[in-house]
Amino acid sequence: MSQGEKPLILTGAKPSGELTLGNYLGAIKNWAVMLEEYECFFPIVDLHAITVHYVPAELRRRTYQCLAQYLACGLDPERSHIFLQSHVTGHTELSWVLSCLTPVGDLHRMTQFKEKSSVPGASVNAGLLYYPVLMAADILLYNADRVPVGEDQKQHLELARNLAQRFNHTYSDTFKIPEPFIGKTGARIMSLQDPLRKMSKSEDSPGDAILLPDPPEVIRKKILSAVTDSGREVRRGDDKPGISNLLNIFSAVTGRAVEELEKEFAGTGYGAFKNALADSVIAELEPVQDRYRRIIEDKTLMHRVLKEGAEAAQARAYRTLAKVSRKAGFIERLR
Ligand code: TRP
Repeated sequence: MSQGEKPLILTGAKPSGELTLGNYLGAIKNWAVMLEEYECFFPIVDLHAITVHYVPAELRRRTYQCLAQYLACGLDPERSHIFLQSHVTGHTELSWVLSCLTPVGDLHRMTQFKEKSSVPGASVNAGLLYYPVLMAADILLYNADRVPVGEDQKQHLELARNLAQRFNHTYSDTFKIPEPFIGKTGARIMSLQDPLRKMSKSEDSPGDAILLPDPPEVIRKKILSAVTDSGREVRRGDDKPGISNLLNIFSAVTGRAVEELEKEFAGTGYGAFKNALADSVIAELEPVQDRYRRIIEDKTLMHRVLKEGAEAAQARAYRTLAKVSRKAGFIERLR
C-alpha cells in the first residue's frame, strides 16, 4: 500500500432477490460507514449465480433489484465501486489461472459444495465445484486487504488466502493475503421464528425474516408473531433467545443501548415492547423503501452506476491481469 492510499475492501453479493433486515443491519448499514476508511469494491456476482439452476430473466430482474437495494440502503456510488462481475474482464481469467493451482480434492471438501451438491436433484456441475476459485479471483483481482464475510464464507476466504500464497510461492510475490473484516457493531440478527438460526429468507417460512420491501402492516405482523420466551420480562439473556434477538434488532435500528431499552420496557410485557419495535423498524425502512421504488424505475441511473463501477474496476483488473499473465509465462499481448 503506498502512502495516502486507503486499504481496499471487497465483498460480493449474489443477486438472490430481496435483502432481509438482517442483511441490512448486520452488513449493509455498516458498509456505508466503511466508505470513510476504505476504498470499497462491491461486485454483484452474477457469474456465481449461474452455478445453480436459474432462469435468465429472473437473474436479470434480481440483479437490478440487488443494485437498487444497495443504492436505496445508502451505498454511495460516488465513493465506492458497485459493478457486475460479468462486466469486468479478469474474474474468469484469473479464476482459470488459480484453478490450475488448486487441488480438486480441496474443492470437493468445501462445506458449501457438499451441501449444495447433496440437495436432491441438484445439478452438480463443474461451475459449482469451482465456485470458491472464482470467489478467490474476485478478491485477488483487486488485491483486496479486507473481505467482510459471514461465518458461512470463512472457508472460501481461507481458500483465497491459500491461493494467494500458492501463487506468490509458485511464481513470485504478487498478491496480498486478504484478511477477514469483522465489523465494529456487526449486529447478528436471528430468525424471528427460530432465534437460534440466522435470519434468512425462506419460501417455506416467510415469518422468519423481515424483507426490505415488506409493507408496514406485514412488518408489524411478523414482529408481533415473533417467537418469544417464557416469562414476560423484557431482558437479554441466554435463557431468552427470542427477546434477546428482538432487543438486538431494536438496538441496531435505534442506536440505543440494550440496557437502556430493558429499563424502558421493564414491566410493560411483550406486547407493548413488540409494538414499539415494529414502529421503529417501520420508520427505519420507510425512507429506504421510498428510495428503492424510485431507483428500480430508473434504468438510466442504474446503468450509469454500473458503467462507472465497471470502468474503475476494469482499470484495476487489467493491471493485475497483466502482471499475472507475465508471471505465468504468457507472452504479452500488444494493444
Ligand atoms: N460466496 C459469497 C456468498 O455467497 C459471495 C461472494 C462472491 C463473495 N465473491 C465474493 C463474498 C468475494 C466476498 C468476496 O455470500
